[in-house]
Amino acid sequence: MEKRRRAEKLVALLRWFVLVLGSVVISDSIDGSRIAILASVLGVYNAFVTFCTFSAARFAKCGRRLSDICRLIDTAAISLVLAVFANSESVAWLLYWFVLVSSGYSNASLRRLAYDSATVLSANALATLYAASVNGSPLTQVAYVLSIRSVGIIMGALVAAYVAKVRSQDELVSERGCYLQAILDCGTKLTRFRDVRELAVYVLQSAVTQSGAQGGELLLINDETNEMEREAFHSLAGESADVQGPPESLIRSYANWVLSTGKEFIVKSSVTSEEQTSSSASSFERDNHHAIAVPLQWQSSGADNEVSVLGVLVVWSAPGEDFAPDALDILKIFAAIAGAAIVNLKLYTTLQKSFLRTLQSLAASLEARDEYTRGHSERVMKVALMIAEELGVPSESMEVLRSAAELHDIGKIGVPDAILRKAGKLTAEEWETMRRHPIVSEEICRPLGLPDEVLFLIKHHHERIDGKGYPAGLPPEQQPLLQRILVVADSFDAMRSRRPYRDVMSEEELLSELNRSAGRTMDPTVVEALKRLMDRGDLVPIYAEHDRLTGISVRPSRENSKAA
Ligand SMILES: [Fe+2]
Repeated sequence: MEKRRRAEKLVALLRWFVLVLGSVVISDSIDGSRIAILASVLGVYNAFVTFCTFSAARFAKCGRRLSDICRLIDTAAISLVLAVFANSESVAWLLYWFVLVSSGYSNASLRRLAYDSATVLSANALATLYAASVNGSPLTQVAYVLSIRSVGIIMGALVAAYVAKVRSQDELVSERGCYLQAILDCGTKLTRFRDVRELAVYVLQSAVTQSGAQGGELLLINDETNEMEREAFHSLAGESADVQGPPESLIRSYANWVLSTGKEFIVKSSVTSEEQTSSSASSFERDNHHAIAVPLQWQSSGADNEVSVLGVLVVWSAPGEDFAPDALDILKIFAAIAGAAIVNLKLYTTLQKSFLRTLQSLAASLEARDEYTRGHSERVMKVALMIAEELGVPSESMEVLRSAAELHDIGKIGVPDAILRKAGKLTAEEWETMRRHPIVSEEICRPLGLPDEVLFLIKHHHERIDGKGYPAGLPPEQQPLLQRILVVADSFDAMRSRRPYRDVMSEEELLSELNRSAGRTMDPTVVEALKRLMDRGDLVPIYAEHDRLTGISVRPSRENSKAA
């Protein structure tokens, strides 16, 4: 489709040149006003064609028939000139060469060219005979003119056939090169995806482009519900043109057939296959769409070598347009690569989740050893999420904040209990050990493949807004909002909980400490959001369990009084 669009775009640009050239050629024998009218009409027509060919989406909407219609209009326009305006000596018939060569270049098909050549020969014969009858030309002159023009047109057809052959060979070499490159790219890039949906979109876009389809859909079996779900949709005609593809119910019926048989599904108007006997195939064909559906398979490496179908890749052509002969093979290669990549990604995700859960449990058990820190990470996570919500942080950032908050202190595993539980002031050496825990946290979490944003938050949860924090002493402009929120939530939980070196703070002491820290160690905007939450009593449920276990409560507590 894309190659056809580019060829048709070039033909449309050449048509402007031919239009000017043709107007000059016939200006000797035709009145100038008539040339102006004809050139204006053809100019409007070519402006529309040029407009359609400058965008893949517009060209897809125009349909494959655009180039066939263009050849017919060009032939009709030239024939009109020959029949009505030109005399027998006019060389305007040479413009038929443009029709033939553009057909050979655009379609690269000898069969299509033979059809266009026959049309041009017939149109020329009719135009020549009509002009001769109007002018009353002698029969011998008519035969002579017709012979000369027909021979000239056949020569033009031979040149066009050469163009079509060269172009089809070039296309073959170029397409094979593109396929190989696309398959290579696909194999390389698929290992980098960490999300099945992103992977599915990439595979589908590559498959649609390389198979010359107009659009496609990738469906995967949901492991929990065992139902097939649309994972990706792609159309060259744009998302809004969904309705231009086959109905979703029909795609589903094809996918179900592929799923149950494990075989590919082909619908072609010129092919009689067992699939086409199904009612679904018949109705699909009535829509004049052609489609290919292939299974996404994975073969286990066990002794049984069992083949599982993970999903289905369905692509469809523009209405009435055939797929290239090797489109099915290309799609099968993409489906095989995608199947293996999806299985690997699911295994990776499962392992990652398992490691993550293990680490979270480890962090929780580490905190549970000490009554002062028990539940700290969970409370920090809840407070941080509430502040983020208060500040209107987008929902997609919440998961980043949640993961970072749950694991931010895992590095304390490397800090001896004697330092963690020390009631007195830490020595310089002990303090240095303590200051390393964010770095250790980040190092422990890095192999999990967590997003860089999460690792950044973990590493920098002890930075200060005045740039005097640790471990990096980041200046404020390098501290993103999520990190500032985590700093405030972490500090607040430390203030709000009982510590070995001090009792729990009263609310006045808490507010005083927050006000003192705002703009010095903590972001004042984030602190204000936290104070609003405190004022509304929103944090009370988070600390209910902590206060019950430690037998304390914030005194006197505006949170508690509001909640009550
Ligand atoms: Fe910490």
